[in-house]
Amino acid sequence: MHKLLKLFLLILGIYVLLKLPGLLFGLPVPSSLILLYLFFAAIVTILVMTTSDASANELFSPIIALLEEPARVRQRNTIFVILPLFAALITYLAVRPDSEGVVGFRSVHPAPPAVIEAYGQTYDLGTLENPLRSLESSEPERFRSYVKEGGDIYFQNCFFCHGAKLDGRGHYAHALTPRPLTFQGSDTISQLQESYVFWRVVKGGPGLPKQAGPWASSMPAWEGILNEEEVWKVILFIYDYTGNKPRQWSH
Ligand code: HEC
Repeated sequence: MHKLLKLFLLILGIYVLLKLPGLLFGLPVPSSLILLYLFFAAIVTILVMTTSDASANELFSPIIALLEEPARVRQRNTIFVILPLFAALITYLAVRPDSEGVVGFRSVHPAPPAVIEAYGQTYDLGTLENPLRSLESSEPERFRSYVKEGGDIYFQNCFFCHGAKLDGRGHYAHALTPRPLTFQGSDTISQLQESYVFWRVVKGGPGLPKQAGPWASSMPAWEGILNEEEVWKVILFIYDYTGNKPRQWSH
């Protein structure tokens, strides 16, 4: 077997070996690491294969022949055209923008499902309302105490990401893509019905519609952590604190 072919087969073999954990056990070796290993494997193998002038000549003779022999001009020219095109194709495939480009600058709110299952019941998001909202006019004092409880829930659970001023700039925010959303401003939660916010808090990032993704959202699903009433209270708080009013159903 020719040395050049040996070199090629050896590197191919190492590549397959590095790919195996991913194919067999679903534990892929990161591709940057594979590239690094292949690079060192190639360097070391070439070093070993070229320890003497004779063996170096043997290894490179097919390449030198291709470059120098006048009779192989056509072969040479074909390879000189195909090689750059192949490199261009690989580069294109590597940098090609795909659907993940959406992540990071989402401004549109994803469409909610019609119904959700949570807390052992089914909620129809088309008619669901915040059961505590009516207290705002009927029992203002009780309403205020719920808003305050909602604030405590917010600062125990949400402020790390959504920020102490509810502006989406919590301590963790700069490390997250997409960034936690702000509740400040008149074009954020005031555009949303409370049922929508309920869905987002209860189901979080995992509950976002799969078709329009990947969202890659770090927003947790709170249904296992906060009970139903706590969710409604924290929603009261985020509207109250930012001076926003939830969007009403146009009956
Ligand atoms: C680990 C960080 C993190 C925590 C903690 C967190 N969130 Fe989020 N939240 C996010 C991110 C990131 C987004 C934006 C991506 C998305 O919509 O899923 C988001 C989105 C939202 C939205 C959607 C807003 C909109 O305009 O569509 C609501 C509502 C929300 N969070 C409420 C809460 C509440 C309430 C809590 C606490 C109970 C909370 N979040 C805790 C990261 C977090």
